[in-house]
Formats: sequence, C-alpha cells, structure tokens
Amino acid sequence: MVIRKLHINEDPPMDLLLLADPSRILVEEYIKRGECYVAESDGQIIGVYVLLPTRPETVELVNIAVINTRHGKGLGKQLIIDAINVAKSKGYRTIEVGTGNSSIGQIALYQKCGFRITGVDIDFFIRHYSEAIFENGIQCRDMVRFSQDL
Ligand code: COA
Repeated sequence: MVIRKLHINEDPPMDLLLLADPSRILVEEYIKRGECYVAESDGQIIGVYVLLPTRPETVELVNIAVINTRHGKGLGKQLIIDAINVAKSKGYRTIEVGTGNSSIGQIALYQKCGFRITGVDIDFFIRHYSEAIFENGIQCRDMVRFSQDL
C-alpha cells in the first residue's frame, strides 16, 4: 500500500469522502482549498484524508475514510499518523480534527493517535446539516474538537 497526494487532474474519491462527511456541498468546498491524500493498494483507492490550512501554523484533518471492507485493520490509524507526519514536514505547529458526539470509535481513535479534546462546538451538526444523523443510537448534534501539538 502507498499513501500519496492526489494527482492534479485526478478526481477525488467522492464515495469515500462522503463516508466521513454526508454533506457533498461541504466536501466539494473544502476539497478545493485543502490537500487530498489517498491510500492505494493494487491500483485501488482504499483510503483518503484531506488536510486543510485553517489559521497560521494550523492545519485541520477535515476528512478521513477507509473503504468499508478494510475497516478495523489499522489502516485508519496509519492514515492519521501519515497526516500528522505530512503536517509536521510542512512546518505546521498544530493539527486539529473534529468529530460528532455520536462517533464513539473515532473519538477513541483520535485519542489513540495523540489528540487531546480541546472543546465542543455545540449544535454544529444541527446548524450545518439538513438531515438528522444517528450513530450508535445517539443523535449527532455536537462536534468534539481535538488538537495535537506537532
Ligand atoms: N472503542 C475503542 N477503540 C476503538 C473503537 C471503539 N468503539 N473503534 C475503533 N477503535 C480503535 C481500534 O481499536 C484501533 O485501535 P488499536 O489499534 O489500539 O486497536 C483504532 O481505533 C484504529 O482502528 P483502525 O483499524 O486503524 O481504523 P479503521 O481502519 O477502521 O479506520 C475510520 C477508522 C474511522 C477511518 C473508518 O472506520 C472509516 O472510514 N469510517 C467511516 C468514515 C468516518 O467516520 N470518518 C471519520 C469522520 S470523523
């Protein structure tokens, strides 16, 4: 498997990006401003992440996804570690990420990758998403914010 930057004229893997973020409008908007990286194995795109510069010296991991058939094999962790190393090599001092209050696995995963919780954006998903989102029997309302010094 190789993790590489998306080529200039290559289409982003929209199905994968929409796994992590159901809003096509938001995905299309940040994909234009951010840098998209893909994990490729035997010519197939099996994972993706997007880094978006937000403030001076700060970058946000705005999307990360692995194809359903490869979940739970350590690929998500590998992609997050790659994103951290890319951000470091580009001179950023802080990397941030946010996830829903209902995304129990992701909340565990980000902490296992060294992120600390810095805040909660109350009602973020109510304000920005037209459809109600439920996961693990919990309504996704608030965005849990994480940060890591690089
Ligand atoms: N409780 C505790 N730990 C959990 C957990 C849970 N409910 N769910 C996952 N984890 C842990 C795993 O145990 C593993 O830790 P370990 O290495 O110490 O065992 C760690 O998270 C990473 O697992 P990994 O196999 O690398 O994750 P993955 O390849 O399945 O990728 C996602 C994780 C989130 C990228 C993947 O599930 C995905 O694409 N989901 C859909 C898109 C999405 O939700 N993106 C994130 C939006 S915020």
